[in-house]
Amino acid sequence: MPGAAGVEDAAAIRFEAVRKEYAGAVAVDDLTLAVRAHELLVLVGPSGCGKSTTLRMANRLVEPTSGRIVLGDEDVTDVDPVALRRRIGYVIQNVGLFPHRTVAQNVGTVPGLLGWDRRRTRARVLELLELVGLDPDRYARRWPHELSGGERQRVGVARALATDPPVLLMDEPFGAVDPVGRARLQQEFARLQRELGTTVMMVTHDVDEAVRMADRVVVLSRGARVEQLAHPLEVVARPASDQVADLVGRGRTARLLALGRLEPEDLEPRHDAPARAATPGDGAPGDAAPGDGAPGDGAPGDAAPGDGAPRGGAVRLGAELGDVVEALTAVAAGHDGARLAVLDDAGRPVGTATGDSVVRALRRLTAAGRGTD
Ligand SMILES: Nc1ncnc2c1ncn2[C@@H]1O[C@H](COP(=O)(O)OP(=O)(O)O)[C@@H](O)[C@H]1O
Ligand SMILES: [Mg+2]
Repeated sequence: MPGAAGVEDAAAIRFEAVRKEYAGAVAVDDLTLAVRAHELLVLVGPSGCGKSTTLRMANRLVEPTSGRIVLGDEDVTDVDPVALRRRIGYVIQNVGLFPHRTVAQNVGTVPGLLGWDRRRTRARVLELLELVGLDPDRYARRWPHELSGGERQRVGVARALATDPPVLLMDEPFGAVDPVGRARLQQEFARLQRELGTTVMMVTHDVDEAVRMADRVVVLSRGARVEQLAHPLEVVARPASDQVADLVGRGRTARLLALGRLEPEDLEPRHDAPARAATPGDGAPGDAAPGDGAPGDGAPGDAAPGDGAPRGGAVRLGAELGDVVEALTAVAAGHDGARLAVLDDAGRPVGTATGDSVVRALRRLTAAGRGTD
């Protein structure tokens, strides 16, 4: 967690009481929002709630009716719009690649506008194509119509990153990509973003995309009203309003399983722990209580669990709950009472996980009154 003092300083973009009206209709009512430097912030909400309008005000494709938008420490209305757009990358659905320009020429567009020499531009283009997973030898000379939807979207991302802008705006960037390619793009882009440290403000109407990719999620309702701004797990586990609950409600448990992790408080005691020492016929030497000063303490008997040990499976502490369920299911075939050894980072058993542990974790995650950020 960044120190409290750092948070305000680190804001890359700030919307201050921003409002946008279109002939009688209010697209954005009164939005105040700070995007932190280096974060991937995802705006999610129903169609027409003002997401695109919000994004487009950040690079002055749309001018606010009132309020202020601050980029770093500059009011964007003081910056020439063309210069501004060269400093802020922008990626939209269907990317809008120039059809009569090759992939390399598309990616090199902004460096060209900025007057980079040919060799520097070329080196940067090749680097970017590699970065977004397109082999330059195969792709640099192709035309946009020779690409799949996912490949086009990668070129769009490369083009937007060409001059390494500190801020990138993305509006439904993966909307036109098929579901399989889409999941991969989401994952790869999120990794790329972390690697580059680019501040990203992304818009989607897809809750799964939002919670999978975001550092923080902003849930908007009509008029770009902020219903909740929180970590993805928090939004799914504890919706702050009926609108948020509506949006994340369906498939909530599946989302919790994907986002939630196994914590120490969910576990049952180690199955081979001293509590079982009295079991008749099990006079194993490892029964000596750990921590009683026995030499070699730290892994007594751990290497070869006895008959009471978890049947076959083990998971790491901090594992995704979905993975725990999967491991339990595998162990459960043909057995009652499936259990898993839970191991710490050093591979030492720290407890036991059962189906009850998963239920406990889900209750823990959704318990009221534990709000964090
Ligand atoms: N250029 C425009 N002229 C008039 N109304 C607009 C214009 N752009 C958007 N709107 C209206 O503003 C509201 C928000 O639109 P938008 O920001 O595109 O929503 P979203 O991206 O969340 O779907 C909608 O009601 C839309 O019809
Ligand atoms: Mg939109």
